Amino acid sequence: MSLRRLLLVLAAHIATGCLNNQLYFGRLTSSLELESFSLRDGSTACNCCGLCSQNAACLSFTLDKNSRQCTLYSAVGGPAEFNRDSQWNHHNQFFFMPNSSRTGEFCRSDSDCVTPGDACRGRICTTDQTITCRDLYQINNELPNHRYWAYIAGKEMLVKCSMSRGGYTLLLNASPSARWTVQSRVNLTSYKEDGTPDTDGLYSILWAADHIRDSSPDATYSVFVGGTRVDDNGSDNWRDWTFNHRRIFFTPTKDVSLLGGVPLSLPYTVEHSESFQYSDGIGQVSFPYLQDNGSPILMHSNTNAASPFGGLIRTGGPIRWSPPADYPDDVYIYIRE
Ligand SMILES: *[C@@H]1O[C@H](CO)[C@@H](O)[C@H](O)[C@H]1NC(C)=O
Ligand SMILES: *[C@@H]1O[C@H](CO)[C@@H](O)[C@H](O)[C@H]1NC(C)=O
Ligand SMILES: *[C@@H]1O[C@H](CO)[C@@H](O)[C@H](O)[C@H]1NC(C)=O
Repeated sequence: MSLRRLLLVLAAHIATGCLNNQLYFGRLTSSLELESFSLRDGSTACNCCGLCSQNAACLSFTLDKNSRQCTLYSAVGGPAEFNRDSQWNHHNQFFFMPNSSRTGEFCRSDSDCVTPGDACRGRICTTDQTITCRDLYQINNELPNHRYWAYIAGKEMLVKCSMSRGGYTLLLNASPSARWTVQSRVNLTSYKEDGTPDTDGLYSILWAADHIRDSSPDATYSVFVGGTRVDDNGSDNWRDWTFNHRRIFFTPTKDVSLLGGVPLSLPYTVEHSESFQYSDGIGQVSFPYLQDNGSPILMHSNTNAASPFGGLIRTGGPIRWSPPADYPDDVYIYIRE
């Protein structure tokens, strides 16, 4: 075997040791940097992994795909130290060494966690039973809106986080043409080509709503529902998107389940808008799609029963929704426990 081939085999062997968190692109905070190398064009994460393996202090690294800069770090790092690339610009490939993660650091399996009592949940070494968007926000309030690994009801899952208001977890995303069933309304995932959940497609983890609610000691939890209001006649155009996209916010006490089908009168706040007359108040904020009174779940929810637009899962009967989303088209629901 030539020396070159031997080195390649060794490099490949070493590189298989480096772990990555699928979808987590970014850099660790600069105080953890050990050294940095400019690699030649064509270099891969394997080459950067090889350099990390040669430095006894190296526990993780980032390879910038654009600049070919390979940066080694002195810790595995976790969400607290991680400057994550925005979802629109993934260029920093981040990897870490196995069996080297302290509490709060990234992991792929329990054996990566070196602190006794820790388990790998939501790809973080922790003793917590649940990891949600709020937990991640509380660890690092500069994390961007993105999909994150979470851990809910004993399952590792990829969830979508809206970080701007303190870490909200997406529960449901519905689009106009969706047909929902009694089963799928609480558990439906469409997948991207890479096999990961498409949280911008048809999506529901409503089954997890009460688990998320109960994972915090707080007496209340917060929900916001966003919707695009279509015209009464069911048209769907740029004007609806521009003027008729609204969110309502409400804060139920913990004894209220999002999975209930009974309309509740709760105070709500409406995001201010140019075209809506509605103001904050008390309204019915039930989750009408959860009613299961035996009638089929309809795909329209505007006043023209023949129109396919405005589809939200709901059963027959009056539209029971807070005003800004009276005739909802696209709808999404977020929860913060
Ligand atoms: C990590 O730990 C696991 C379980 O103890 C072991 O099977 C595995 O070989 C270790 N990996 C490395 C690279 O040391
Ligand atoms: C959701 O549905 C999938 C199959 O589509 C199933 O594997 C999973 O167990 C379900 N989850 C829950 C909480 O029911
Ligand atoms: C639907 O309503 C919009 C405004 O509300 C109106 O401009 C449009 O002409 C209506 N379309 C039909 C087919 O009635």
